[in-house]
Formats: sequence, C-alpha cells, structure tokens
Amino acid sequence: MTRTPASTALKPRTIDAGNLRSDLDLSKAELNAVLDLAASVKQRPAEHRKALEGKYVSLLFEKPSLRTRLTFELAAKQLGADSVLSTGAIGGREPIKDVARNLERWTHCIVARTFAQDTVDSLAEWAKIPVVNALSDMYHPCQALADMQTLKERWGELPGHKLAFVGDGNNVAHSLLLDCARLGADVAVVTPPGFEPDESIVRMANEFAAESKSKVTVTNDCPEGLRGADAIYTDVWASMGQEQEWNERARLFAAYQLNADLYSMVRPNALVMHCLPAHRDEEVTDEILELPSSVIFDQAENRLHAQKALLLMLMAGSGGKP
Ligand code: CP
Repeated sequence: MTRTPASTALKPRTIDAGNLRSDLDLSKAELNAVLDLAASVKQRPAEHRKALEGKYVSLLFEKPSLRTRLTFELAAKQLGADSVLSTGAIGGREPIKDVARNLERWTHCIVARTFAQDTVDSLAEWAKIPVVNALSDMYHPCQALADMQTLKERWGELPGHKLAFVGDGNNVAHSLLLDCARLGADVAVVTPPGFEPDESIVRMANEFAAESKSKVTVTNDCPEGLRGADAIYTDVWASMGQEQEWNERARLFAAYQLNADLYSMVRPNALVMHCLPAHRDEEVTDEILELPSSVIFDQAENRLHAQKALLLMLMAGSGGKP
C-alpha cells in the first residue's frame, strides 16, 4: 500500500502538453505525479474541495458510460467545480473546430468520449482549454490511471511485477501497455490471432520498457503470456461500436475466456482486473470476478480519485494550456 505522509498536501503541478489526448501526453514524471496526487486526494479529499471553485467542465459523450461520466461529474463537484453534459455525435451538427471554440468561451476543460481518436485530437488542436480523452477507439488513458493507482496500492511499486491482459488488443490494452511499460511493470497482451494491439503502440511500449528495464510480450499463446503474472486483466470481446461482430468474436475468443483454467496459469492469488462493464460468463466467469483477489471495484473507485488528480493538474492555476 502506498502511503502519503499525513502532514504534506501535495500541490498539483501542471502537465506540459496541457491535454490528455492519450497516455503519451504524460511523461513518466507526470504520470507518477498524477498517481501521487491521486493517492493524496483519496486519503484527504477535504484538502482539495475548493481547488477548482468557479470552474466548469464540459462533458462530451458520443458513447454510453456509467463510470467515466459519473466519476468526472463527481470529481468536478468534489473539487468545487461543476460540469455540463452533451451527448451524441461530436461534430455532427457543426465542425469540431467550432464546437471547441464554443466550449472554451463557457467552460475550463473538455472531457470527451469519442469513437475516433481524431475527434479528441481536433478538439485539443482548436480549444484553448485542456482536453481529456475519456475513451476513444485507440486509448482509455483515464482507465489506465485508475488501474495504475490500484496496482500501486497493492504492490507498492510496479517494477518486479507482471500484468497480463487477455482478450481483444483494444484501447484498454493499448493504454495498459504504455503505462505499465513506462512505470516498469512487465506487461503481456494475449489475444486471438488477428486481434493483436496496434503495432505502433507495441513499438512505443517496447521503447518505454527498454528505458524502465521491463518486458513487453504480445502473443496468441495463453500459457506463454500468462506465466508469472501477478495480475490478470480482461475486457469485453466486442467494444462499443463492434456489437454486430459479437457472434463471430464469441467463437474466436472462446479459448481466451478468463476462467478457472486460465487463472491456473497465473501466479496463485493473482489480482483479477476488469475495466467494467463486465459480461459475466462471456469474457470472464462470474466465479473469477468474485474471487477475493478481484480488485474490479477498487479500479472503479479509483476512477474518481485519479480523475480528480488529473483535473487538478490540468485546471488548477492558469486553467489553460501553456
Ligand atoms: N470503464 C469504463 O470506462 O466504464 P464506462 O464505460 O461505464 O464509463
């Protein structure tokens, strides 16, 4: 368990990029700073309850959400700010560059859940206020922050530990690859053939791993990828927008279900992780999700604390980009 001394309130530093378009906008030092602040915010929430007083967050959601939307709304309120919500296609009624330049006149940060990564990037290009990726088809950096916080609570530091992700090499897998490799945890992504993570992400993860002296494995072979893992993570087989592929994916992914057989391949009592929502008895059995070693609701709780830290770092002080 990582502990922050009771007497020292961490002061938020800023994030150089001014945005969180993807995990790549955070240097290793900034990633550690967000996680340290998240731990401090979790322990002593009252110290930050007026930090963003008078500020507003725009929430733009093209896709459904329970955790991300509610934890950003709560994060804003618990920091003294407030939020406004717009659902539906971003850029459907007017160009994204116009959306961005409206929102910057009324609010101090944009949190966007999109299909295309380009939508997040365009918002960030045009808005003079910070833009946060609340999940795109390519990345889920806010989820990964909460996941890294959860792992640090359990492990202390990440080097010397291994996380294995099994299933689709999707946005969650991409963000885990980047953050684990940067922080020095070994990370494996185990997928059916044809569902491997994006090659450019694997390349960058390998570069981070070379610096942090960790190891990245991408394989279709469960025993190879899962061997020695201290945490095993899975996600739905068909992400939002891929539902029409579900029947075909169910057939291809069946051997990659996180069940007792796969769990026997990792270390005894390995942490069980899922970003949620989970489809019980599809990608993961109910039995495995309910194990005492399951940390799925710690992950969900930490969405709130990690995102509070992120908003503080992006919005406190100038509240804008450099
Ligand atoms: N894990 C996650 O992003 O949950 P929601 O889709 O409910 O926001």
